[in-house]
Amino acid sequence: MERLDKIISEHSRYSRREAAELIRRGKVTAGGVTVRDAAAKFDPETILLTVAGTVIPVHRQHTLMLNKPVGYVSATEDPREKTVLELIREEDCYPALFPAGRLDKDTTGLLILTSDGDLCHRIISPKKEIWKTYMTTVQGRLTEADTAAVRAGIQLESGEQFLPGELTVLESGDISRAELKIREGKFHQVKRMMAALGKPVISLQRTAVGGLELDESLAPGEYRVLTERDIEQIFN
Ligand code: URA
Repeated sequence: MERLDKIISEHSRYSRREAAELIRRGKVTAGGVTVRDAAAKFDPETILLTVAGTVIPVHRQHTLMLNKPVGYVSATEDPREKTVLELIREEDCYPALFPAGRLDKDTTGLLILTSDGDLCHRIISPKKEIWKTYMTTVQGRLTEADTAAVRAGIQLESGEQFLPGELTVLESGDISRAELKIREGKFHQVKRMMAALGKPVISLQRTAVGGLELDESLAPGEYRVLTERDIEQIFN
């Protein structure tokens, strides 16, 4: 157990004295409750801490859910493009974060960023077969035949084979909308699957990774820290 002012100063840009002052002014919450005593003790391994409304990542590893907007690449650096890391405030980048998987520059939605290498592996490793859910708008009329083809596992002309997925058609017309669940993360996979059906993707949004759904309160470009319970949801 450690003093609250010490935990804040060790995990943020605030000095111990500034931390004590913020606590006194009622700007600090621990576990959702305002704490006004700088000497109050908490377990740094489990504390959920906010200072002036911002979550302070205290644990050695931390993980964020980003609602990725169009126009950003899923990389930590890029010589030409804007990266998703540029959407994360400096105080939330500690320790170094990286994207757990990739969404294309023009894909939106749920992107997990983590400093935890093991967690990243568990999310993206093909062997773990974590299902990813996408909402897609495509050109052309989606039919039962498309649903059956996805269920059987699409094979491209090149011979490349995708694992069986689940396609649920929500609107069918000259432009169709569908939910697609897949358990791989191959390069441009959804776009290549839909192109193979002759229905090119117009827009693509990821809405869930495993059992963890994109938080609808997050506007594009916004993010929040994931709790242990959120992380468990991924694997449920
Ligand atoms: N499949 C794609 O084609 N693009 C993405 O960004 C994600 C899945």
